[in-house]
Amino acid sequence: MGWSEGEVEGMAIAGYLHDVGKLVVERDIINAPYRIDAKQSKELNRHPGAGFDILSPIHHPYADIPLMAKYHHERMDGCGYPDGLTDTQIPLGAKIVTLADSFDAMTTDRPYKTRRTFAEVIVDLRKNTGPQFDPIVVQAFCRALLKELNGETAERKFLKMLGKNYLDAERDKPLIVELLSELDPSARAAAVGGA
Ligand SMILES: [Fe+2]
Repeated sequence: MGWSEGEVEGMAIAGYLHDVGKLVVERDIINAPYRIDAKQSKELNRHPGAGFDILSPIHHPYADIPLMAKYHHERMDGCGYPDGLTDTQIPLGAKIVTLADSFDAMTTDRPYKTRRTFAEVIVDLRKNTGPQFDPIVVQAFCRALLKELNGETAERKFLKMLGKNYLDAERDKPLIVELLSELDPSARAAAVGGA
């Protein structure tokens, strides 16, 4: 995305800290081994605002981290929370946390649900890019994933995160290229060229 190393580092820290507001939410709700009800969900939805309150007074070099925590459950279409912001009102960093968080949720086993296959994740990304996710962020995500599957990265971060049997380069690369080319037709040539 053309970010500096420092900005990327700040983004990674936002990734670690974005849910810190869950500290104020009852532990039973956080650890519920079932889908929570509406009342519990309202309680859980306090966590982005609480995270902002916790992170704001801290002096650190990455000024946007409190806002990334506050807005990581907003959606492009304005149906998110806490403030119902839309597209350009949502900080780019918060949009990145949203996608990373959703990808993590989909690819991690939960007490009430096993993780989705990569093909299912792609279906979800296709459906929700626009209403929920920013296309710019999804494209960058796809490029990063493709780069790793093409063996062009020094470190295999996705592999480490997902375990060695989750992704299959030959099977999954076409799915990513397809999604990328739908989001940005000029990307297909680049992706195929780099493969
Ligand atoms: Fe969250």
